[in-house]
This record gives sequence, structure tokens and C-alpha cells, in this order.
Amino acid sequence: MTDKRLLSGKTVLVTGAAKRLGRAIALAAAAAGANVAITYRTSAREARALVAELANHDVEALAIRCDVTDEKNVSEMIKEVASELGAIDVLVNNAAIYETIDFEKITVAEWDDIFATNTRGPFLVSREALPYLKKRRGRIVNMGSLGGLRPWASHAHYCSSKAALHMLTQAMAKSLAPDIAVNTVAPGMIDLGEKSATAFMKKMAKQTPMLRNGTAADVAAAVMFFAAAPHFITGQIMLVDGGLGL
Ligand SMILES: NC(=O)c1ccc[n+]([C@@H]2O[C@H](COP(=O)([O-])OP(=O)(O)OC[C@H]3O[C@@H](n4cnc5c(N)ncnc54)[C@H](OP(=O)(O)O)[C@@H]3O)[C@@H](O)[C@H]2O)c1
Repeated sequence: MTDKRLLSGKTVLVTGAAKRLGRAIALAAAAAGANVAITYRTSAREARALVAELANHDVEALAIRCDVTDEKNVSEMIKEVASELGAIDVLVNNAAIYETIDFEKITVAEWDDIFATNTRGPFLVSREALPYLKKRRGRIVNMGSLGGLRPWASHAHYCSSKAALHMLTQAMAKSLAPDIAVNTVAPGMIDLGEKSATAFMKKMAKQTPMLRNGTAADVAAAVMFFAAAPHFITGQIMLVDGGLGL
């Protein structure tokens, strides 16, 4: 059972949260007593369904459409969250693109898109949220990746975008201290039950010291840790990978 008091009175904003890991993080925040704002880009139906589920936890919830690559869109979204929910205490930069492409086939457009979403997106959303986060001595949690620390041959652009996000976490932690704590949760192999990935997931579980793949609950628990951790903990990259990266 989650402690309802952990984030009670706080407001948590999770980008790209209509589905998958973002959804699990939003639900964990609501279960911990936080009011929750989620953003979506294309998954409007899933976002509406999630808002109803979040509200079952007796917290305020809202969903806003936002493309994190669009500066004006991001600025308007942050203002709307702050005016609707009154504050922003925790920002989770979750929205991202993941693609498998051989190095020689990556186009300039694909390279630029992944950086605009995975690296510039968290920068933009954080920058716009700063005044609100500062007021509340808030926290930023970026969603990094094991791929930002270990090279994956068919994901050069993705790995580079996440490595840059890890460095952005550390640079922001230093420049935003002492007002805001900034940390990263870097998931490894997470099993979200996709049928097409069953054989691959089985293989990866065998290679993982903990002998299983991660779950959405494992990742959400790590995000909740940073959301409520002592403010003194900042600039950290926490792998959630069962030891796969060791
Ligand atoms: N799943 C894993 O195993 C794993 C492993 C390592 C790291 N991670 C990281 O953990 C986070 C969550 O993972 P995930 O697999 O749940 O993510 P995901 O499904 O790949 O993406 C999450 C959401 O990002 C949104 N998005 C994409 N481009 C956007 C843009 N330009 N503006 C706004 N939103 C945009 C999409 O929203 P719409 O659907 O509304 O379009 C999507 O649902 C990501 O940062 C990911 O890189 C995941």
C-alpha cells in the first residue's frame, strides 16, 4: 500500500503520460496523494481515461495536449497546469521517442527529432516550469535510460540523446541548487507485456543479475523516491535495471 501522505498537498506534472511508464508514474503519484497533471501529444483517448482513474484517488487530475518540441505550446501548458492546480512541486520529464535504426540509415531529420524530443524537450519544459518549481522548492525527475550510459549499436541517436539528458540533469542540478533538486531515473530492460517482445524479454531476463526484467512499478517506485527524497539528493542518475548495466 502506498503511503497517501507521501505527496499529499503536492502537485506532480508528468509529460507524455497517457500510456506505459508515464501512466504508471502518474498513478503512483496520485496513490501517494498528489494532484496530477499529465500531458499527451496523440493519445487523447488514453489520457482522458487516465484522468478518470487518477480522480478515483480523491485527487485533482487534468490532461493537457502538449508537444514538448514546441516552445509556445510548452509555455502555455505550464501556465495552464499552474493556474488549474495552483502549483508545480514535481516535474517528471517522461515524454520521449525510442527508435531502432542502423547507424548508417539514421537521417538528419531522425537525429534532430530525437534530440528535439528527448533532450531539448526536458530542457524546455523545465525552463518554463522554473518559476513555479522555485516557489515550492521543487524537484525535477528526468527519464533517462541505460542506453544513455551503455552504447546500443542500433540506437546511436537515442543513446546520444539520453546521454545528453544525463549531463543536462547534472548541469541543472548544479545551476538550480539550492532551490530545485534534479535527478534522473534511467530504466534498463522494462517488460510492459508487449507480445512481440516476449522472446527478447526472456533472453534479457537471463542476462540480468536479478534474473528478471523490470516492471512499470519498479520504475514508478524510483520516480516516487526522487519525488519525495531529501532535497539534499541532487544530480543523481539512478539505474533501474536489475544490475544489467554492471
Ligand atoms: N520502456 C522502457 O523500457 C524504457 C527504457 C529506458 C528508458 N525509458 C524512458 O522512460 C520514459 C517512458 O518510457 P515509455 O516506453 O513509456 O515511453 P514511450 O511510450 O516511448 O513515450 C511516452 C510518450 O511520449 C510522448 N511523446 C513522444 N513525442 C512527444 C512530443 N514531441 N511531445 C510530447 N509528447 C511526446 C508520447 O505521447 P502520445 O502517445 O500522447 O503521442 C508517448 O506516449 C521515456 O523517457 C523513455 O525513453 C523507457
